[in-house]
Amino acid sequence: MKFEKVSLVYFSPTQTTQKTLRAIASAFDGAVQEYDITTSRDIAVPAFGAGDLVLVGVPVYGGRIPAIIETFIQSLKGEGAVAVAVGVYGNRHYDDAMLELADCLKADGFRLAGAGAFVAEHSFGTEVATGRPDAEDLAKAKQFGQQLFTKLDAAADLSAIAEPEIPGNRPYKERNTAANTAAPKTTDACIQCGVCVAACPVGIIDAEDPSKITDVSKCQRCFSCVKKCPVQAKFFDAEGVLKAMNFLKTNFSARREPELFL
Ligand SMILES: Cc1cc2nc3c(=O)[nH]c(=O)nc-3n(C[C@H](O)[C@H](O)[C@H](O)COP(=O)(O)O)c2cc1C
Ligand code: SF4
Ligand code: SF4
Repeated sequence: MKFEKVSLVYFSPTQTTQKTLRAIASAFDGAVQEYDITTSRDIAVPAFGAGDLVLVGVPVYGGRIPAIIETFIQSLKGEGAVAVAVGVYGNRHYDDAMLELADCLKADGFRLAGAGAFVAEHSFGTEVATGRPDAEDLAKAKQFGQQLFTKLDAAADLSAIAEPEIPGNRPYKERNTAANTAAPKTTDACIQCGVCVAACPVGIIDAEDPSKITDVSKCQRCFSCVKKCPVQAKFFDAEGVLKAMNFLKTNFSARREPELFL
């Protein structure tokens, strides 16, 4: 099967999922169309269908797909299009997120052709999987794209596309549903540039005063505002977040490698 276009659909607050998906798509020589749902899940995504190839990328949050994009992912229309599930996680583990994403895409009517669990710098700081995806990760992502496109080229039709086995358990790991009380703080270095206001996936940073969070309970602790601030004025000092960072650094610093399912 030959595809003239590949569509990328992704949620990526600190942009490692976006980088990984783009590296996979760089192996493709046709057109690439992007649907970035990081700051809005109200964007118009067409109903896909036969002849479409869609790479769906999500970061792993608590071993699951992020709760705020679950409904959006469930509302995608596959209708016989081919999909590839891409999960990006911060060097601890993806737990049930890959299986959950694959299940969602199949329920949406996609034919699942492959999946990849890739590793990137943990959102909660710069000390776990620092700087990843690095050159080696991006080369592996491109190689995955090449293997995937070779597999699809060789298939005569949808029924000839073998579906990969994806690791994980059902029921999926339980989400932490406790009300969020941690939100970023802002130092006097803030230059009121508005970058964090535009970057927040849930729109809770006050445009008039970016040091104010309008609804702490909605904060996803995604670190988009922290990592995108040009003067490093945003930070978290909540005990739970600091403890999590230390726990990850102590227990999950050994380098993990991407896992590919084709
Ligand atoms: C709320 C939250 C929960 C996370 N949970 C996990 C996890 O369960 N396992 C893991 O290895 N990384 C976890 N991470 C790290 C992210 O999956 C990882 O940093 C990813 O690269 C972020 O993607 P992005 O750059 O596209 O935002 C978590 C990050 C956040 C913000
Ligand atoms: S305020 Fe919370 S949800 Fe918004 S960008 Fe910052 S960490 Fe993410
Ligand atoms: S991105 Fe940083 S400098 Fe810009 S408004 Fe937000 S906190 Fe202030």
